[in-house]
Amino acid sequence: MKKSDFTAVVPVAGAGTRLRPHTYTYPKVLLTVGNKPIIGHILDDLAAAGIKKICMVTGYLGDKIKTYVSSAYPGLDVDYVEQPEPKGLGHAIWMTRSRVTGPMLVMLGDTILSADLSKFLGGREDCIAVKEVPDPRRFGVVEVKNGYISAMVEKPEKPRTNLAIVGIYSFRNSSQLYGSLQRLVDSGTTTRGEIQFTDAMAMMVRRGHRIKPVKIEGWYDCGKPETLLETNRFILGRGAGGTMRHSVPKASGTLIVPPVYIAPGAEVRDSIIGPHVSVGPGCRIERSIISDSIINEEAQVSDINLAGSLIGPSAVVLGRRYKLNVGENSEVIFGTGDIAPGT
Ligand code: UTP
Repeated sequence: MKKSDFTAVVPVAGAGTRLRPHTYTYPKVLLTVGNKPIIGHILDDLAAAGIKKICMVTGYLGDKIKTYVSSAYPGLDVDYVEQPEPKGLGHAIWMTRSRVTGPMLVMLGDTILSADLSKFLGGREDCIAVKEVPDPRRFGVVEVKNGYISAMVEKPEKPRTNLAIVGIYSFRNSSQLYGSLQRLVDSGTTTRGEIQFTDAMAMMVRRGHRIKPVKIEGWYDCGKPETLLETNRFILGRGAGGTMRHSVPKASGTLIVPPVYIAPGAEVRDSIIGPHVSVGPGCRIERSIISDSIINEEAQVSDINLAGSLIGPSAVVLGRRYKLNVGENSEVIFGTGDIAPGT
């Protein structure tokens, strides 16, 4: 079986509610991390692994995703399937049943991995990525016996292990997987109101199907503001030379603290930028100090100190500038004054 035989199924139909307000107007996968949208990093990883066919499940704001993918990746063979309502990850994968035959690699649209994909594409066994996490209750959790998964449960209240399922799955025979998903759909079986992918795989395991857990370390979630910023730190940190910086005019009076990405066409002056800041195209930043933040395209930021911030496209954030005329021995204290020097 060659890598190019695999179809990568990438579900991106979810509404991304945990990333509101950004996802009111942008699908989650188009939010920027590092130097490009989340989905761009995933498509780069798939192409680098030798995947030739991609089937994307779109729904919420799907047209925006299609427009981005066709303009940024014109050479990629992407087939789109519509999931009319986000009824769960299992349902999203089930929607692709008439489009995918043969081996399948499922990659979640909001997860960036730093892992060798050939582990999932080589060999003869079905496998899923797992990672030991301190609190596995918000994940699918697996139990392992003799090197294979013996049980799996979606978001258990009392997890029996700390091995969480983390967003990459490979199946040599997709028709077996579709068979299990079909049974869940036919019987209306849901967990927490959704048709769960974990339930379909658990059914396969109960019927004696062998799935190997593959431990990975480099797993970066983009589902919540704090994990999006963490993933941004990782992507910027792995950038060439630690800094992905472009076209900041020399006379801008700006100090760059790497790693930082400043897109071509962004204007930055009289500021301190970094570490871990991504600035999108067309942004205008002046007289500001920014660290650990993502400033999306065309945003305007002035006179402010920002850290741990997500600024949406075309947003305007104007801080304060003070004009003071203060004499010797005066004290000027903004705030309550209870930490004034000398008191
Ligand atoms: P998530 O549950 O993390 O994404 O699904 P979500 O539903 O968009 O986010 P929240 O919980 O509302 O914040 C993981 C991946 O599966 C896709 C999502 O788009 C995401 O890429 N998905 C999920 C679907 O395609 N369809 C679904 O019904 C559910």
